[in-house]
Amino acid sequence: MDATDTDRYAIVGSGKIGAALAELFTRAGIEVGIANTRGPDSLRELAASRGPALRPLSLTEALEREIIFLAVPFPAIPQVGAARPDWTGKLVVDTTNAHYSPGSEDVLQGRASAHYTAGMLPGATVVKAFNQLPAATLTAELDAGAGRRVVFIAADEPAAGDRIAALAGALGLAAVQLGRIDEGGRLIQVPGPLVLRHLVERPL
Ligand SMILES: NC(=O)c1ccc[n+]([C@@H]2O[C@H](COP(=O)([O-])OP(=O)(O)OC[C@H]3O[C@@H](n4cnc5c(N)ncnc54)[C@H](OP(=O)(O)O)[C@@H]3O)[C@@H](O)[C@H]2O)c1
Repeated sequence: MDATDTDRYAIVGSGKIGAALAELFTRAGIEVGIANTRGPDSLRELAASRGPALRPLSLTEALEREIIFLAVPFPAIPQVGAARPDWTGKLVVDTTNAHYSPGSEDVLQGRASAHYTAGMLPGATVVKAFNQLPAATLTAELDAGAGRRVVFIAADEPAAGDRIAALAGALGLAAVQLGRIDEGGRLIQVPGPLVLRHLVERPL
């Protein structure tokens, strides 16, 4: 299995963070599907701007892929979850930030937001990542030789964290794994101490 495999990745949500992820994938030449509520026709313009590595899909098609980036507003998570009866075998990268949605504290009741997400996607393996920087920062070009932008990853299943870290590397980023969602994941859950911290790893 290779981090650059085709038909493996999908982004659900084509707004600010979904489009930023699409930019990272297409810059790296890694094929990725993308879906939203409005269907593939609404994604033609975005796809044309990013080239053939970006594939507009229906939501159903996107959810057939193995590794799915969840790039929807926090309140939309149950709706996405209901689009599949069983998420077994899916690795979901949760880029959402509950904090900015009114009433989310009542919904979470102290749970880590990625654990809430996992509860809405029964059977899925959920990894928290790509949520702690603004979309525009995630894609901003760094000066040549400056190093690689850091993305933080929290996962309860180490193998899943390793896979997303390898993918982040293939996307040109420096992955820093923080351990379990209830531990390291809290550091990147708004208002945690690593939120909006823009770090660049310099070569030693
Ligand atoms: N904006 C940032 O800089 C940033 C950075 C890191 C993390 N985040 C987090 O990422 C999430 C998305 O933020 P955003 O700023 O990208 O939002 P956004 O610009 O409003 O885009 C949301 C996208 O989600 C899609 N969507 C909504 N409900 C859906 C559903 N049920 N099924 C499929 N697609 C659905 C929308 O589809 P349509 O296009 O069809 O309406 C839209 O493409 C939020 O939780 C946010 O906190 C944002």
